[in-house]
Amino acid sequence: MSAPRPYTLIAELTYRCALKCPYCSNPTALRDHRDEMSTEQWLRVLTEAEELGVMQVHFTGGEPLARKDLEPIVRRARELGLYSNLVTSTVPLTRERLVGLKEAGIDHVQVSMQSTRPERADDIAGYEGHAHKLTAARWVKELELPLTINVVLHRANLDEVEDIVALAEELGADRVELANTQYHAWALLNRDTLLPTREQLERASVVAAKAKARLRGKMDVLFVKPDYFSTKPKACMDGWARRFVHMTPGGFVLPCHAAMQITGLSFDSARDRALGDIWENSPALRAYRGDAWMPEPCRSCERKEVDFGGCRCQAFALTGDASATDPVCSLSPQHHLIRDARTTAAPKRYLYRG
Ligand code: SF4
Ligand code: FES
Repeated sequence: MSAPRPYTLIAELTYRCALKCPYCSNPTALRDHRDEMSTEQWLRVLTEAEELGVMQVHFTGGEPLARKDLEPIVRRARELGLYSNLVTSTVPLTRERLVGLKEAGIDHVQVSMQSTRPERADDIAGYEGHAHKLTAARWVKELELPLTINVVLHRANLDEVEDIVALAEELGADRVELANTQYHAWALLNRDTLLPTREQLERASVVAAKAKARLRGKMDVLFVKPDYFSTKPKACMDGWARRFVHMTPGGFVLPCHAAMQITGLSFDSARDRALGDIWENSPALRAYRGDAWMPEPCRSCERKEVDFGGCRCQAFALTGDASATDPVCSLSPQHHLIRDARTTAAPKRYLYRG
């Protein structure tokens, strides 16, 4: 079977970041992942990604601005005709640097925020950065770049959806992403504290739906529902190693941000081999591509081409078996793991990333 064409490269340039968000998707064993690819290696990877069919690249992290060589990397993306998105906390950003990044060719900026309330925002981030984020978001619009405001939602801020939408409007954002927490990595460690109540979620969904209707044609409002209150999994990453190439700061080529935790899979590094060769032939990327790996009930399920069997990382994290049916699915024999997590959640202090 030849590999499908990927459209998006998610380039985690570094795991360094001043913030300590308790839902961070970076590995929990951060000290094992300090190694970073050089500028030259990233420039080569971008060229190989474009040859593979990739059309857009998200520069993310950690905090991608922590890389002093972000500008030449962005410039290469522009030369290759890739649409580039900077995913940032903005914390080390200056206006001058943003001007430079625009000149280098950045096409879009996504600013992450934690809350509309400064004290709460800084408490969630474990860092005093909220005021700077507001300033930096305004620079993005002053420089006439498209702006997305992204807020990861959980128990502490899910009641703020109306205020978050109002803040995004005030900042002139083109899009607001209300992304309920996905429970991987640090978020899984903090799950008891982050899980909202069903009532909170239902209220927030109604508010988000009204905002979406009111702002149609003016600002996109995206509300990503949480798996833990669903009985049908999402098509995680649009299917394993199907549309997204995910790269770690050290050069490992993954299907998603969380796959390194799956023991028994050995991922290849773009430092050693061409990206196209890895995409096509890596045993780890082939492991859950397509549907040959699926157990029942997925194998004979009519939704298997809709959700591709859900999330392999979630199946591994909760059951110890990456080929198990995603426990979010009500047909999974382990669906009780999701139900139990909801009913036993009891908020504590955050365990901050770091
Ligand atoms: Fe998706 Fe498998 Fe559940 Fe069907 S049985 S809905 S394919 S996770
Ligand atoms: Fe890895 Fe869902 S996060 S497959």
